[in-house]
Amino acid sequence: MNNTTLISSTYAIADELIVNRFGYGAMRLSGQPGNFGAYPDWEGGKKLLRRAVELGINFIDTAEAYGAGFNEKIIADALYPYPDDLIIATKGGINKSAPDKILADASPEFLRRGVEGSLQRLKLEQIDLYQLHRPDPKVPFTESISALKELQDEGKIRHIGISNVSLEQIKTAREIVEIASVQNKLSISDRTNQDILDCCIQNNIAFIPYGSLGAHPLRRGAPLANAEGILADIAHKKGVKPNQIALAWLLHYAPNIILIPGTTTIAHLEANIAASAIHLTAEEINSLNRISTTK
Ligand SMILES: NC(=O)c1ccc[n+]([C@@H]2O[C@H](COP(=O)([O-])OP(=O)(O)OC[C@H]3O[C@@H](n4cnc5c(N)ncnc54)[C@H](OP(=O)(O)O)[C@@H]3O)[C@@H](O)[C@H]2O)c1
Repeated sequence: MNNTTLISSTYAIADELIVNRFGYGAMRLSGQPGNFGAYPDWEGGKKLLRRAVELGINFIDTAEAYGAGFNEKIIADALYPYPDDLIIATKGGINKSAPDKILADASPEFLRRGVEGSLQRLKLEQIDLYQLHRPDPKVPFTESISALKELQDEGKIRHIGISNVSLEQIKTAREIVEIASVQNKLSISDRTNQDILDCCIQNNIAFIPYGSLGAHPLRRGAPLANAEGILADIAHKKGVKPNQIALAWLLHYAPNIILIPGTTTIAHLEANIAASAIHLTAEEINSLNRISTTK
């Protein structure tokens, strides 16, 4: 693949951060197992991040919890000083102290420390999009969102996103502050968050699906890469792979979807990005819409 970007469709997060709708989820560039610690092939990871940007990706998703800080560090190491149009979205509210210890902490104190830490690791003065990684059942949701609003008022965060949320939580959050994005699970085979996507469409909120290839956060592999049935049939007809059709379908599914499939290989990165150039006919979309899904 040459360096010409194939990504032609954009979305304006909060009406101002214009990003290509094909982004990159950086979580897997972390130590394994458990996405914990530094990515062992640090130079290889940097190469992949640079290739992503070279191919037109200008939206990268990360989190304090990925690699427990190292994921943000590899992004800065690879890409700082950043291209003007690059948007890095990070998240806070999970305290990850070991590969198998994922503890929600969305207390105002932890979120404040998290934002300060992310600013340092990412070498930024302001985080363009800061997402609450997960509501914390021990902390009133309104307190977590108010803490983010305070950090926004102080200029440390430009826009606020939320992740792993319910409809009720979106409503509550929006009563406190403008919500620019929601990051929940969604793929062609798992549409349990259809109502959340609909709510985002209605309210001009970006929807950033994780699990777009059916991946389990802590296991390797993308089940949709080996899908059979309609997905495989349409892929075969077009001379592409089922995972590419799964991604292309999401891009056709709703205009506010920004994809962030992750990978650790440049070959997969290039194959995934190529999905943004796949045109699906109305008939193909209709058959894909009928694929049986987790609802
Ligand atoms: N908010 C949350 O709670 C949450 C949860 C999970 C993830 N996320 C975010 O969402 C991003 C995406 O997550 P995800 O669950 O969609 O994926 P992911 O966790 O980033 O992993 C994708 C998996 O699919 C494989 N893969 C990718 N492209 C492939 C291809 N073309 N052919 C075959 N296998 C392929 C990758 O393996 P290879 O490395 O071998 O390509 C990897 O194991 C993450 O990186 C993270 O930023 C957020």
